[in-house]
Amino acid sequence: MRHIEREELKPEESDQLLLLPGGHPPLWNHMDSIGPVGLQQREGAPGCSQEGLPCPSDSSELVLECLQQFKVTETQLQQIQASLLGSMEQALRGQATPASAVRMLPTYVGSTPHGTEQGDFVVLELGATGASLRVLWVTLMGTEGHRMEPQSQEFVIPPEVMLGPGQQLFDFAAHCLSEFLDALPMDKQGLQLGFSFSFPCHQTGLDRSTLISWTKGFRCSGVEGHDVVQLLRDAIERQGAYSIDVFAVVNDTVGTMMGCEPGVGPCEVGLVVDTGTNACYMEEARHVAVLDEDRGRVCISVEWGSFSDDGVLGPVLTTFDHALDRESLNPGAQRFEKMIGGLYLGELVRLVLAHLAQRGVLFGGCTSPALLSRGSILLDHVAEMEDPLAGAARVHALLQDLGLSVGASDAELVQYVCAAVLTRAARLCAAALAAVLSRLQHSREQQMLQIAVATGGRVFERHPSFLSVLQKTVMLLAPQCDVSFIPSVDGGGRGVAMVTAVAARLAAHRRLLEENLAPFRLNHNQLAAVQAQMREAMVKGLRGEASSLRMLPTYVRATPDGTERGDFLALDLGGTNFRVLLVRVTAGGVKITSQVYSIPEDVAQGSGQQLFDRIVDCIVDFQQKQGLSGQSLPLGFTFSFPCRQLGLDQGILLNWTKGFSASDCEGQDVVCLLREAIGRRQAVELNVVAIVNDTVGTMMSCGYEDPRCEVGLIVGTGTNACYMEELRNVAAVAGDSGHMCINMEWGAFGDDGSLDLLRTCFDANVDQASINPGKQSFEKMISGMYLGEIVRHILLRLTSLGVLFRGQQTQRLQTRDIFKTKFLSEIESDSLALRQVRAILEDLGLPLTSDDALMVLEVCQAVSQRAAQLCGAGVAAVVEKIRENRGLEELTVSVGVDGTLYKLHPHFSGLVAATVRELAPRCAVTFLQSEDGSGKGAALVTAVACRLAQMARV
Ligand code: G6P
Ligand code: BGC
Ligand code: BGC
Repeated sequence: MRHIEREELKPEESDQLLLLPGGHPPLWNHMDSIGPVGLQQREGAPGCSQEGLPCPSDSSELVLECLQQFKVTETQLQQIQASLLGSMEQALRGQATPASAVRMLPTYVGSTPHGTEQGDFVVLELGATGASLRVLWVTLMGTEGHRMEPQSQEFVIPPEVMLGPGQQLFDFAAHCLSEFLDALPMDKQGLQLGFSFSFPCHQTGLDRSTLISWTKGFRCSGVEGHDVVQLLRDAIERQGAYSIDVFAVVNDTVGTMMGCEPGVGPCEVGLVVDTGTNACYMEEARHVAVLDEDRGRVCISVEWGSFSDDGVLGPVLTTFDHALDRESLNPGAQRFEKMIGGLYLGELVRLVLAHLAQRGVLFGGCTSPALLSRGSILLDHVAEMEDPLAGAARVHALLQDLGLSVGASDAELVQYVCAAVLTRAARLCAAALAAVLSRLQHSREQQMLQIAVATGGRVFERHPSFLSVLQKTVMLLAPQCDVSFIPSVDGGGRGVAMVTAVAARLAAHRRLLEENLAPFRLNHNQLAAVQAQMREAMVKGLRGEASSLRMLPTYVRATPDGTERGDFLALDLGGTNFRVLLVRVTAGGVKITSQVYSIPEDVAQGSGQQLFDRIVDCIVDFQQKQGLSGQSLPLGFTFSFPCRQLGLDQGILLNWTKGFSASDCEGQDVVCLLREAIGRRQAVELNVVAIVNDTVGTMMSCGYEDPRCEVGLIVGTGTNACYMEELRNVAAVAGDSGHMCINMEWGAFGDDGSLDLLRTCFDANVDQASINPGKQSFEKMISGMYLGEIVRHILLRLTSLGVLFRGQQTQRLQTRDIFKTKFLSEIESDSLALRQVRAILEDLGLPLTSDDALMVLEVCQAVSQRAAQLCGAGVAAVVEKIRENRGLEELTVSVGVDGTLYKLHPHFSGLVAATVRELAPRCAVTFLQSEDGSGKGAALVTAVACRLAQMARV
């Protein structure tokens, strides 16, 4: 690791920062010394310049002019740095402008390695080193073990494979994989592979990555725009030699950064200069517009190779750069890379040498077919020629191999050319890196930045001067950054294995999550079976046969017809709130005044007398506040519990539900209990006319606006439905014409075990912990009182499996009812970013990562989706029954709905409607959300009863 002390450099030295082999003084000072010495005469030979050889002064001018072009001033470097930084920040904000586009691609790597990763991993590297791919076997030993050297093998990729059909390339890679594995003595079961794919890709996950465009000598067809992980998986499958799981795809810069030894790092920047060039760095997630994250960091692949702001690059692009670009596989693209990447440096040197030869400055003015053919001078050649020790001799040897006759000063001039090309590359790379460092300073609001940069690639390995020029230039361009450069030890293979280890762990977590959520994902057949079972239970219930659906007659025979009039008191007990209402029904409509009162848990679970006394207290308080004291208005009582009604004003409570368990009520006529409580209170007169279930109240309330409303649905604390049944089908009530509203009490559906196939262990946990185990099975899979608890039990299980919260069980999460159902509605709301999901969970004291938040969101979605679908299957059974009752091909019907869960959950109502459309396609169902609750409905039922009683009296 090389560290340069600050005072080492003076500004004016920067421009002359062109280190020459063997420590020669800077080139520019040299130029005027390049005398005629080096220039021999060779007139008329083939490939030699026909025009007369330039005079010494002209040729040195020519050389100066050539190499001067490669001189990039500090000002230009600062402009490039600033423009690149601007382009990076634009791209982060999602405002990338094609002109200067650096891509800033999120890589889904959210943290630098913490060394705990363990296991054996296969790494396939494609694209980092040009025409070769490498396969590695990397064993990670976690924090304890010593470091194991990866085993690797390099395979040369034939040019026709780099330019042919994509399938051929991936088949070639799969072939190399199995060839490598064949030679390995290890057990090759459950192989986990990390794919280092060094090209610009849009990643949508650690193992999903779409190639944007090829770079660096690759141009296979049928790959751009495709997911390269899938292409590799398909090729491995076609190869059929090994079952290999591809867990992660990683850009080589990320592998380089992640491969940084935790001891010396962590490195937060990965810099690669090999055939191509690029960098990645850890950006604050909140600054990356495409990610709705506000916490943590994410690794961004800058893809600076495509930086091409003509404004700042124009002046530094030489004629040779333009020539190289014109001849390249991707003209106009990757302009910045073509000035830095190892694939191009040799070519630039060749173009300059050919130019100088044709101008008679080099090789006696003679060229050679090799010198004129593209790609004849490679990166390694430049490295050798530039080598201060062996350089000159190597230059001679190499140039002779190219069929050139090398004059005395040619070797030195050629070294100047190599140095000029390389120095420019290092300085441009430094300007780009300085832009990244400035970005890090911005995003971390740090004046002084101390940072470790992992470097990788053969330009670093082969050109020692590259790093020193780079460092010095970075020092000048980013003086507030204290940068340590850490060469990656194995080209990033270990880093890719680290990312793969994290990906494998996340994939295992995802599999466990899916295993636990799978039972919540109900398919069409399962829902149709629930619909059919409910239908069957309805028929049995109506006939008075054993059924988990009690199908209770309500003695409401008609929905309102709009002639109702008068003032009515209404009570609404059984939902989230207890309400007392004054309902004024006039020709102009219904006016409601109401007040919410609480029923404390100890009253709801105390004595019946206490409960009904509390109710009467509230009525009296309401009457006083409304100036109704002493008036005995007809009262309608919405009592949202299963009651066998013997008449409109008689209802025997069958059993409490929803957390109520007041004693001495079950089996009692609750109207009597109310009247007794009224009786216990002096000077209070109330005329209880009707008791209705909240589903009936809701149906009546909506029926007042829409006469087609013949179904009432509640999805709140509890759940239930009622509907207008043909009286002939109601065995418990005499008469066979006309209709009667039936309170299904579908909350109890499945109490006979008919839902056991769908019940999960989490449902069983919730049921066992409830005050009425074995009861209200359907309700406990659907309604607001229970969904939060189901989610909590799933989170507990996933935590115990280590999938969530790093496996840390917290006291809070073990607290009953801590995870309110309203959290589901909040967490699943589309407008809520993941960060807000995290905020809700953090308030619960849960230590979570962003992956955790995502998984909690998926758990909530699975639980609420099942609830909505089951509810939809129930409604489908009801409307189909009505349609068939009436022998209709098509039925148009409305359903009045109320309940906090249905009203507040962002997707519940839509899922219910979709399920009904799917299961009852011959019913056109409109869902009407009740505005005034069922209190209004109870008042309307009372009004109808009063009107009928009135008519009976006349
Ligand atoms: C409304 C109705 C109540 C019903 C309740 C159910 O408030 O007026 O009669 O019981 O909805 O929903 P909830 O979410 O309060 O349990
Ligand atoms: C690619 C990058 C890669 C770089 C270094 C560039 O051509 O676009 O994805 O990181 O080369 O290999
Ligand atoms: C009760 C029903 C009520 C439903 C909705 C259930 O627990 O048994 O009577 O309609 O909750 O409030």
